[in-house]
Amino acid sequence: MTPETASTKTEPEFSLSNYEVKDEDLPEFRDMKFEKINQLELDHPGASDADYRTRRDHIAGLAKNFRETHRITDVEYTPEEQKVWQIVATRLEEIQAERASSFYLDAKSKLGISTTRIPQLSEMNKRLGELSNFRLAPIEGLVETRAFLSWLSYRTMLCTQYIRHPSRPEYTPEPDIVHEAIGHIPNFTNKDFADFSQFIGHGARMATDEQLEELGRLYWFTVEYGLVEEAGEIKAYGAGLLSSFGELENAFTDNVERRPFDLKRVINTTYDYSDMQPVLYVISSYEYLKETTRKYIESF
Ligand SMILES: [Fe+2]
Repeated sequence: MTPETASTKTEPEFSLSNYEVKDEDLPEFRDMKFEKINQLELDHPGASDADYRTRRDHIAGLAKNFRETHRITDVEYTPEEQKVWQIVATRLEEIQAERASSFYLDAKSKLGISTTRIPQLSEMNKRLGELSNFRLAPIEGLVETRAFLSWLSYRTMLCTQYIRHPSRPEYTPEPDIVHEAIGHIPNFTNKDFADFSQFIGHGARMATDEQLEELGRLYWFTVEYGLVEEAGEIKAYGAGLLSSFGELENAFTDNVERRPFDLKRVINTTYDYSDMQPVLYVISSYEYLKETTRKYIESF
């Protein structure tokens, strides 16, 4: 092509869209490149419990199998693990009745997530596929940001299957099945939220390091700690809020500044993951969140 013809050619405007992800469109899970998957940190309540570590390693091993077989293996949870779930899920359900978004509460029951037993990723995955064409894939621990977010581009969320240590049912320093199933998974039944998540994934695949940091903040203040306005009331939809009694209660106290969502401000707000959140952002709707995010990522 000569320089003349090159200069007259008009590039089609980049526009971000959602697409159905068929099984054959998925990258090979076995090719997942994870720089580092977090092992158990020393401050984990189970760090010095050899039995807990063995059990966690076993369940993490099932996630590694998934990468070869593409089949989610159900975990045979022990009575002790079920007990931890029952304690946490029951207590969260009480607070959520008042504080969680009505969409979320509805979705939780649609997915069959109850206080009585730990739900299997396989069953939630099947239901999500039917409701919003979203997928779950087992993972053995916390993954670095770009790798984790990029999978959202394929409408896939990486989820852990093990459960927190029984000594501290109210606390986990890493994602576990409580955080995934009670915090994250119900939100993906919402088409706008699922699309928004996919946009974040598209963004992560092309972001510069600086943009990736911004995306990480957007994710933090929405997917993890988001609030939404519903019929004149503020409700929680973020997974970090919905899966933690402390955070969920704190979010509605005077300790927290609840600001109207402003994307530019959000992507420039830093956070400290080891402490209670002093600032949260309230979206007006999931559709607004999706469309604002679409425009932002189109600007990359
Ligand atoms: Fe999370």
